[in-house]
Amino acid sequence: MRKKIVAGNWKMNLTSEEGQQLTTEIVNLYKGEAIQDVVVVLNPPFPHLYPVKKLVGDTAGIFVGAQNCSDKEGGAFTGEVSSKILASFGVSYVILGHSERRENFKEDQVVLATKINQALAHGLVPIFCCGESLEIRESGTHEETVKAQLTASLFHLSPGEFSKVVIAYEPIWAIGTGKTASAEQAQEMHAALRGHLATKYGDVIAAQIAILYGGSANPGNAKELFGKPDVDGGLIGGASLKSRDFIEIVKSF
Ligand code: 13P
Repeated sequence: MRKKIVAGNWKMNLTSEEGQQLTTEIVNLYKGEAIQDVVVVLNPPFPHLYPVKKLVGDTAGIFVGAQNCSDKEGGAFTGEVSSKILASFGVSYVILGHSERRENFKEDQVVLATKINQALAHGLVPIFCCGESLEIRESGTHEETVKAQLTASLFHLSPGEFSKVVIAYEPIWAIGTGKTASAEQAQEMHAALRGHLATKYGDVIAAQIAILYGGSANPGNAKELFGKPDVDGGLIGGASLKSRDFIEIVKSF
């Protein structure tokens, strides 16, 4: 059976105090509501990783992730953070290929492939984001576009490496817009992506890969989205900043 995962992407939000408060609330709710079979990943900005990791402690089922990592192993790269450093601080996941990084920081498919290699080399689980713009969606080429994103940055991996990757489908037109993809649209894309993975890695591995949905997911729509057979969880932006909303999403399976 595939893992069910709900990852919160805090983006560039929350002060030190706010981040610690949110983490404490999420940990308490997760434990208090005896949630068991859903993996939660908290992805705060870099300076939060250490205190968040400390607050999470050894809580079974909750992990800490970064929002980015360097494509370099280490050395004179001022301002960058390597996978090796992240792993040494107990970070387990890293979001890569988010559309905000592709757009604002011009991360291309080649650099993303290198970042994926770095993450895997240091034992981090990459949450690889893919997704199309509104223009592409309206042109009807969205499936081909998103499949090509996977091919370009992931298909160089060996089957063993690839099995560790988590995929997040995040249609750009649904991010932070309040406009969610319908559960049917999400299922259609997730099934198409899983089929694409199978062409390269076979049905068995494709069936094991968790594919998350991201884009204006909230406590009101998560149940329907997570009810679809190929939607294995969510990558949550805005709603991950409120503990109650986030936990309600976690409980939506
Ligand atoms: P929102 O949930 O705020 O739309 O953000 C989605 C996202 O980009 C998560 O990575």
